[in-house]
Amino acid sequence: MFSRISGTGHYLPSQRLTNVELEQRVDTSDQWIRERTGIRERRIAGAHENVVTMAVAASQQALAAAQLAATDIDMIIVATTSAEHSFPSAACEVQEQLGASRAVAFDVSAACAGFMFALSVADQYIKSGMAQHVLVIGSDVLSRLCKPDDRNTLVLFGDGAGALVASAAEKPGIVSTHIYSDGKYASLLGAKLPSRSESVVANDAWIYMKGNEVFKVAVQKLSELVQDTLQHHGLPPDAIDWLVPHQANYRIIQATAKKLKMPMEQVILTLEYTGNTSAASVPIALDVGIRDGRIQRGHKLLLEAFGGGFAWGSALIDY
Ligand code: ACO
Repeated sequence: MFSRISGTGHYLPSQRLTNVELEQRVDTSDQWIRERTGIRERRIAGAHENVVTMAVAASQQALAAAQLAATDIDMIIVATTSAEHSFPSAACEVQEQLGASRAVAFDVSAACAGFMFALSVADQYIKSGMAQHVLVIGSDVLSRLCKPDDRNTLVLFGDGAGALVASAAEKPGIVSTHIYSDGKYASLLGAKLPSRSESVVANDAWIYMKGNEVFKVAVQKLSELVQDTLQHHGLPPDAIDWLVPHQANYRIIQATAKKLKMPMEQVILTLEYTGNTSAASVPIALDVGIRDGRIQRGHKLLLEAFGGGFAWGSALIDY
């Protein structure tokens, strides 16, 4: 038994926040943000939007593209680190709102790499014959975890959701997934949960990040990751039609593409207008590439992401 992608979807809030608007809020400039990150604007969830509402909208598109009803879904996995509730899980709320009454639903937490972890779990359940159709979602509102006066994080993050349906198939679609983590880097990137503990008050629950140190490890780990993924299958870099990377920073993506000797024309980019949407970034980019016709059935894709934990992962896909 194998798994394949049977449908994709994404959702971005309509509210835009441009670099020029950020210049009014903190000591930064449009030029600095564009040159250091490649981001021009990001979308910000409105008061009526959250991880669950965005996940539901993205999932409805993915189900329609897969020509499946919500009741066909056996499992829902939401990758997120910014849901409204500690419990119930965002996935249980998505299950209820979609009417996916047959599904088992749960969240996974691996920050910006969360979607790769969720996809890996889905792939294992389908390959083992335990599930036929799994809805895999990445949804995050990291703009709400950025301290309003912290230029280090404020310029990077935006909100959104992406989803795909992975379905059982006769031949490989999701060829392989590869996930890794290393907790020794926890001090470089994270966000505390507001809790009842005296040491963490709500006001202290913002993203902390040592950006340039994160940058160096991300470039190193992602370079190793994409090379190892191809070597695992004995594939040359030019076997890949599209790189679908986590959209954190143009320079990180460029370094990864360079390792693969891949021209930037073969890289799906959204970060210029989405910013870093954390767990949503890979499925948003994937859906954008599919809907605008660049990614076609039969193409070979390499998906990758890196984030807090640190956690990182890839997937090789015959679309
Ligand atoms: N606007 C203007 N100036 C700034 C800003 C800002 N928003 N932020 C920092 N600066 C200043 C710094 O103070 C520093 O000034 P100095 O030279 O006078 O000391 C200068 O710009 C350079 O700062 P660096 O941190 O060295 O800049 P760098 O080139 O590393 O770029 C950035 C910073 C964009 C954060 C980069 O390191 C990065 O993208 N890192 C990865 C972080 C990331 O993506 N985190 C998200 C989760 S993990 C992931 O998704 C991969």
